[in-house]
Amino acid sequence: MDRELALEFVRVTEAAALATGRLMGRGDKIAADDAAVEAMRKAFDTVYIDGVVVIGEGEMDEAPMLYIGERVGARVAPHVDVAVDPLEGTNLVSKGLPNALSVLAVAPRNCMLHAPDIYMDKIAVGPRAAGCIDLDDSIEDNLSRTAKSLGKKLEDMVAIILDRPRHQQTIDELRRLGARVKLISDGDVSAAIATSFDWTGVDILFGIGGAPEGVLAAAALKCLGGEMQGRLLPENQEEKKRVVEMGLQDTLQLLKMEDLIAGDDVIFTATGITDGDFLQGVRYAGDCATTHSVVMRSMTGTVRFVQATHRLDKKPHFVARTCNAST
Ligand code: FBP
Repeated sequence: MDRELALEFVRVTEAAALATGRLMGRGDKIAADDAAVEAMRKAFDTVYIDGVVVIGEGEMDEAPMLYIGERVGARVAPHVDVAVDPLEGTNLVSKGLPNALSVLAVAPRNCMLHAPDIYMDKIAVGPRAAGCIDLDDSIEDNLSRTAKSLGKKLEDMVAIILDRPRHQQTIDELRRLGARVKLISDGDVSAAIATSFDWTGVDILFGIGGAPEGVLAAAALKCLGGEMQGRLLPENQEEKKRVVEMGLQDTLQLLKMEDLIAGDDVIFTATGITDGDFLQGVRYAGDCATTHSVVMRSMTGTVRFVQATHRLDKKPHFVARTCNAST
């Protein structure tokens, strides 16, 4: 993929973040999600790609926009697969909590796992610990190997995990081992990426979250040189069937980086909606707003942070409408 596309994709996540950021703390996660989805969908129309959504807002009959299988872009080459989460962390935005992002990843056709919207068990680390993790090993082994590669003691390690009852055993084990534990209410895409930036203080991600979010995080970690492994967790026959239909014969296969994101030509972008570990949220002031985004390409490993000032009075309706609303 042409590197110029990277900036085009940033415009798409910026549009979604600008549209939904105004709804921060309003307690309405559906309105916040709708605003992000609409803005992202329309922003895609201006991008010179022939994209097919492989990770999106759901199946055609349940999502009016950005549904799986929907064509996006100006319908010219390159022919690519698109994974989107216009608002990752709907609760985070509705409550004004940190780390809500708008994210997307784009790769050549058939290079991304077509993950259904079910749970995935995940483990992720940044580039200095890549090669040290194995989802099938114990928490102790993974934590020890990661600590060794980072030159840290176990008690210096910070493990991040969604605060859910299903993780109590893992949390207890991390505490028994002496690790410091960062419990988050939502947003494991941001959490997985945080392992790659030393200044976040986060070393390793454990736990079960959404499978689509797992693929998006893997795309980011591929660009960053980190590592993620996952295993889909279908909970019934229907979910197993969907996994098989999406191309995985062994529904319990250990998914490594190459299974999640094949090849070396993925582009990932994220724009902060609320302030977070590595991105600032959207700031509004009159007719202006600022956004903070990260854009990365696996082919070169370049990671760019893009701070942008936007004139809302010059933005298309679908971006500025929510921003300009006074209610
Ligand atoms: P939404 O943006 O769809 O609300 O997802 C937020 C999130 O926290 C993800 O980051 C995470 O993968 C998933 O939900 C966890 O699911 P659950 O809330 O069911 O534990």
